[in-house]
Amino acid sequence: MNILLTGASRGIGAATLVHLRNAGHHVVGQSTAGSDELIAADFTDPAAPRALWQTALAELGTIDVLVNNAGVFEGVADNATDDEWHAVWGRTLGINLQASADLCRLAIGHFRERAGGGRIVNVASRAAYRGDSPQHWQYAASKAGMVGMTKSIARGYAIEHILAFAVCPGFVMTGMAEEYLSSRGGKQLLADIPLGRVADPAEIAETIRWLATDAPPSATGAVIDVNGASFVR
Ligand SMILES: NC(=O)c1ccc[n+]([C@@H]2O[C@H](COP(=O)([O-])OP(=O)(O)OC[C@H]3O[C@@H](n4cnc5c(N)ncnc54)[C@H](OP(=O)(O)O)[C@@H]3O)[C@@H](O)[C@H]2O)c1
Repeated sequence: MNILLTGASRGIGAATLVHLRNAGHHVVGQSTAGSDELIAADFTDPAAPRALWQTALAELGTIDVLVNNAGVFEGVADNATDDEWHAVWGRTLGINLQASADLCRLAIGHFRERAGGGRIVNVASRAAYRGDSPQHWQYAASKAGMVGMTKSIARGYAIEHILAFAVCPGFVMTGMAEEYLSSRGGKQLLADIPLGRVADPAEIAETIRWLATDAPPSATGAVIDVNGASFVR
């Protein structure tokens, strides 16, 4: 399969890039600054998703799967200045939700044009259902938006063999989570996870791989929780 994967430089995305390639897929990855291996696309620029899509399509020829994984987890206090508040809301919704939506739209156009269908996997978060801290309303809202968008795509385009899924990780051991665990009391946080540990990026990578390539078409619209039972619904 030919796959475009965003946020491939670190954490879940880096693990997914390796995992998908080991499974024999052709994967084009993206990060903000890019590298020898990754296409540069900064999603604070509204033109970046289209430019990324066009570059990836030129490299791959055709795209079978889009994985929207890039995201930011920025906090802002409820008593911040209006400018600070709007800046963080704007960045979070722009990167996590709008850029994902833009790429979904481009993927759907491409899947229709080639008439073969295709798959979209959106990496949302447990926060979509559970909410997040008082500093992170915007993060939870962006991820709930991704879930609503995924279900809309699944319902709207299934007849054209375009399938859409979402993954909702809880805590995953990436650089971001390690910092969070040490700063906010790891023990208390782990006590909230019945499995007794945060998820390994490889576990999210395998969930993404399965949804991207193997999940039965009738599962379209599904949201898979990967959170050690820290939030069951
Ligand atoms: N870690 C967790 O506990 C957890 C839990 C639930 C959901 N998630 C979700 O899983 C996804 C991956 O999380 P992670 O922990 O692996 O993240 P991460 O290690 O912080 O990596 C984030 C990725 O997004 C890219 N990115 C950041 N800002 C960007 C921008 N302005 N434009 C384009 N790309 C940008 C980064 O590229 P650069 O390296 O170039 O900056 C990087 O590849 C995110 O959507 C996150 O919300 C994570």
